[in-house]
Amino acid sequence: MRIRPAWPEEAKTLSDLALASKGVWGYDAAFLEGCREELAVTPADIASLVVEVADGGPGQPPVGFFVLDPAGSDAHLDKLYVAPGHVRRGVGTRLWAAAVRQAAARGANSLTWDADPHAVAFYARMGAVEIGRAPSGSIPGRTLPVMRVPIPRRPIDDPWKTVKQEGLEDGDH
Ligand SMILES: CC(C)(COP(=O)(O)OP(=O)(O)OC[C@H]1O[C@@H](n2cnc3c(N)ncnc32)[C@H](O)[C@@H]1OP(=O)(O)O)[C@@H](O)C(=O)NCCC(=O)NCCS
Repeated sequence: MRIRPAWPEEAKTLSDLALASKGVWGYDAAFLEGCREELAVTPADIASLVVEVADGGPGQPPVGFFVLDPAGSDAHLDKLYVAPGHVRRGVGTRLWAAAVRQAAARGANSLTWDADPHAVAFYARMGAVEIGRAPSGSIPGRTLPVMRVPIPRRPIDDPWKTVKQEGLEDGDH
């Protein structure tokens, strides 16, 4: 599975993916409808922010994506969503590593975001901690955990790329 930059024409596909992904936690239709606007990805986002997808293979839609706003020393993870049929197979971990790598490459010292409460266990596994609560941008009266992780000086590499490189190096000996 390849992580690659999103194409502007994928904006609607990614918006739909985010909404379907949010649905894995069992929210009802009215709740999800309330999130639709905040979960939307626009061609302008793809042009101005760092948006990368987990490629679904030839002729297939992406199986996940992230949106990163790398501005400043504390970068903001705006979105991270994995398609419903692909959760718990390591796609989120791959996307996470790519987002951290991109933030590191742009000089960020930390990464902060508001998380869905159900996703906190995943982010904790990635090394993030909850630093507070913030109001939901979609649902009045709801608050969300604010998560942060320091960015290591040496960027986290793509684990598959590392395996490949090691394999090539082995072949050189
Ligand atoms: C949260 C999300 C991005 C995680 O992606 P994923 O591809 O399913 O996660 P991974 O397979 O890489 O999981 C890595 C590890 O994180 C932890 N983890 C992942 N999902 C978990 C869950 N639902 N409950 C507890 N731990 C979880 C596990 O330790 C897992 O390792 P394991 O499967 O070997 O036990 C994905 O579930 C998702 O898109 N959810 C719906 C949308 C959402 O809430 N996105 C985040 C918005 S802030």
